[in-house]
Amino acid sequence: MFELTEQDLTLAWSGEYSVGEPIIDQQHQQMFELYNELVALFIAGRPGTDFVQTATGLLSLSQQHFEDEERLMAAAGAGDLDSHRHKHAELITGLQTMTAELDMVSATPSVAMMVVFRDWILTHILSEDLQLRPLWAASEQG
Ligand SMILES: [Fe+2]
Ligand SMILES: [Fe+2]
Repeated sequence: MFELTEQDLTLAWSGEYSVGEPIIDQQHQQMFELYNELVALFIAGRPGTDFVQTATGLLSLSQQHFEDEERLMAAAGAGDLDSHRHKHAELITGLQTMTAELDMVSATPSVAMMVVFRDWILTHILSEDLQLRPLWAASEQG
């Protein structure tokens, strides 16, 4: 059976993920770090309470991050704030579902679930937030 290694799952931060807004970039990096902690627990075969706590930490950080990001977007005059806000709400619902499922299956995530966690973060940054680069570049000049 094909098995994913820690390296396959781990998210390494790099400049290509930067949206160019310091607070947002910092919070995205914190999301990477918490997710990588989940990977480490998963690989070490240590699900359970630590895993649930870390997943819950990722959920709170994400909620705070979306709030801050929306506030910064509004201040910078983002045009597509409503649709972005809607996507954030969907992401939170998805993450809440994942963490709730964790509790039900005695906090033992599957490889597939780890991939869902990883893609959850990447979807948020790569397919939504990177589109905001021009907004932050413009607000920096202005
Ligand atoms: Fe973000
Ligand atoms: Fe976002």
